Amino acid sequence: MAKVLLANEKPFAQVAKDGIAKIFKDAGFELALLEKYTDHADLVKAVADADAMIIRSDIVDRKVIEAAKKLKIVVRAGAGYDNIDLAAATEKGIVAMNTPGQNANAVAELAIGMMIYLNRNGFNGTSGTELRGKTIGIHAYGNVGKIVGYIAKGLGMDVYAHDPFVDCVLIENDGVKCVEDVKELYKKCQYVSINLPSNSETKESINYSLLSLMPKGATLVNTARKEIVDEKALLKMFKDRPDFRYISDVTPDCKDQIAGDYEGRYFFTPKKMGAQTAEANNNAGLAAARQIVNFLTKGDTTFQVNK
Ligand code: 3PG
Repeated sequence: MAKVLLANEKPFAQVAKDGIAKIFKDAGFELALLEKYTDHADLVKAVADADAMIIRSDIVDRKVIEAAKKLKIVVRAGAGYDNIDLAAATEKGIVAMNTPGQNANAVAELAIGMMIYLNRNGFNGTSGTELRGKTIGIHAYGNVGKIVGYIAKGLGMDVYAHDPFVDCVLIENDGVKCVEDVKELYKKCQYVSINLPSNSETKESINYSLLSLMPKGATLVNTARKEIVDEKALLKMFKDRPDFRYISDVTPDCKDQIAGDYEGRYFFTPKKMGAQTAEANNNAGLAAARQIVNFLTKGDTTFQVNK
């Protein structure tokens, strides 16, 4: 009987866990749970006899891969798989997958929600500002970016997008203006929503030369990964530009420096929570479980990211 480990430092909603359990029960697989662990060693220990594993932002580094004596597949229930050592997995013949798009709506709603929250001064009763009529740039028009654009249009924002991997025709079909030069996107837009994946090319790519192009009322919205934004540039923007604000679902390392000096110009979630909804947990969790069953029973490698 195949054993699947559901290893989530940040647990799924119960509805998702119930759905996952049913899929594995129907397939005749055994399910083991490791939740809210605080020590990485617990994951290293738990993976030892697992044939398959579902993770979220849990760190699957070489240590975990080496401890996994039977592991054939690891599925990241979510979009970004920068937390998996793909080279180590590939070396051991372990298939790595993600579940693209399954939690995108939750992340996009949070991006817009945080913008409204900051514009209304944390709902403290003082006079705020509106999003209607403002410009927003979507930096990377993937599953999340597309929905951010869709909601922003509904709010009456003027929506632009830059994505070298998406044909402008597809962007324009959504009623979004395509911007081929990334600098133009930052120059045009008061709000920029970062929806890039984290990799060696995107790391610290949101730098001062881009941010300083933003017009008055510049607000950077990051629901991607903190490494993508150059934090030295972030601090310089806060210092040089009193209009600059930063909203992030990933608390930056320089949070204490920002919190001390720039009250009212930032909002950071205490823990990454873009995908933390019952719906997103259910969509991503069930997709991950189905992908594992399909791989172990039929060899289906759709969504493999380390081919
Ligand atoms: C993702 O990459 O799918 C999101 O960042 C969500 O991450 P999480 O599952 O850890 O909340």
